[in-house]
Amino acid sequence: MIFIDACKREETPYTPIWLMRQAGRYLSEYQAVRKKAGSFLDLCFDSKLATEVTLQPVDILDVDAAIIFSDILVVPLEMGLPLEFISGEGPQFKRTIRTSKDALELKKDAYKHLTYVYDTLSMTRSKLPQDKALIGFCGSPWTLATYMIEGAGSKTYTYSKKMLYSNPELLKSVLQKLTEELKGYLSLQIKAGADAVMVFDSWAGALEREAYLEFSWKYMKEIAAYIKKNFPHTPVMLFPKGIAGYLDRIDGEFDVFGVDWSTPIESAQYHLGSKYVLQGNLEPARLYDMQAMEEGVDRILSVMGKKAGHIFNLGHGMLPDLPREHARALVQMVREKSRR
Ligand code: CP3
Repeated sequence: MIFIDACKREETPYTPIWLMRQAGRYLSEYQAVRKKAGSFLDLCFDSKLATEVTLQPVDILDVDAAIIFSDILVVPLEMGLPLEFISGEGPQFKRTIRTSKDALELKKDAYKHLTYVYDTLSMTRSKLPQDKALIGFCGSPWTLATYMIEGAGSKTYTYSKKMLYSNPELLKSVLQKLTEELKGYLSLQIKAGADAVMVFDSWAGALEREAYLEFSWKYMKEIAAYIKKNFPHTPVMLFPKGIAGYLDRIDGEFDVFGVDWSTPIESAQYHLGSKYVLQGNLEPARLYDMQAMEEGVDRILSVMGKKAGHIFNLGHGMLPDLPREHARALVQMVREKSRR
């Protein structure tokens, strides 16, 4: 698998590529299956349909890896927080974690109940071509905690930050509970067929540097070290979004560092390129325009070159209104321009 070879910094015939959020609303095929499922969460629960949408971008775009179709928020859901996706508004939890009593009520061993995710992984792996990799994933403890504490997406992270500064021990207890669940969750994903695993820290950039290192990166590293110890051959990818200013403080035991689009790729290469394989980082909005897209590709490949150590991706997820033809063209373009 060229994607897995690249994660291990082995020589590959071209730079492999996949796209964050490559399964989703920009594909009419996805919308058709989602309609059949009824709701987004019902689609996550139905392994047969989730397998179908996981495979769609591999067939349509010819990317080098599939990422399992699910959501980071199924973990808090199984920890006892009822979840709803409200159209136009995003995810909402009816219960929140604000007090130590709330935290104590969180269920343990939730990862054992995520059988629909494991079923989707094994079903997908059995249908996926042998040369395509299958990626499992989870959210970071900090990013999951913000949803559990706020109850929904947030621009200010009011309750999470209040807890961080006024009751750090409570926040840490929640983060540690999540960390234990996520270790078990990624382990079972690997056992079910994931060839690599990725941790999404989408709201990394909400925190100042020292708070970030203490309340998020520390737990990301703990999860990564646990996986590397138990599954040394499975690549671990970490994606902290919005921390371009803290790259000199990034360390730990993992394979691939996901570079978001707001981080200059040369800066990531300078600080981290010799230690970690870099993944990224085309600004997704460049896909609105073919010329802007090609300029972005050329810039990234001019920095990362054709040497081992780079996986092409967007610097954040596909947007629902991006033209699919441009996504297809991107995959072909990267493959041609990076061919050794
Ligand atoms: O193709 C893939 O990348 C795999 C599937 C995937 C989804 N969510 C499906 C999804 C992955 C990897 C995620 C991760 C995820 N979910 C993150 C981290 C990555 C990131 O984008 O920063 C976060 C923060 C979430 C939480 C979440 N899920 C939000 C905020 C939303 C609503 C926002 C929106 O785009 O509407 C979701 C819903 C969601 N997750 C959709 C999909 C395809 C859209 C649901 C729909 O069909 O309406």
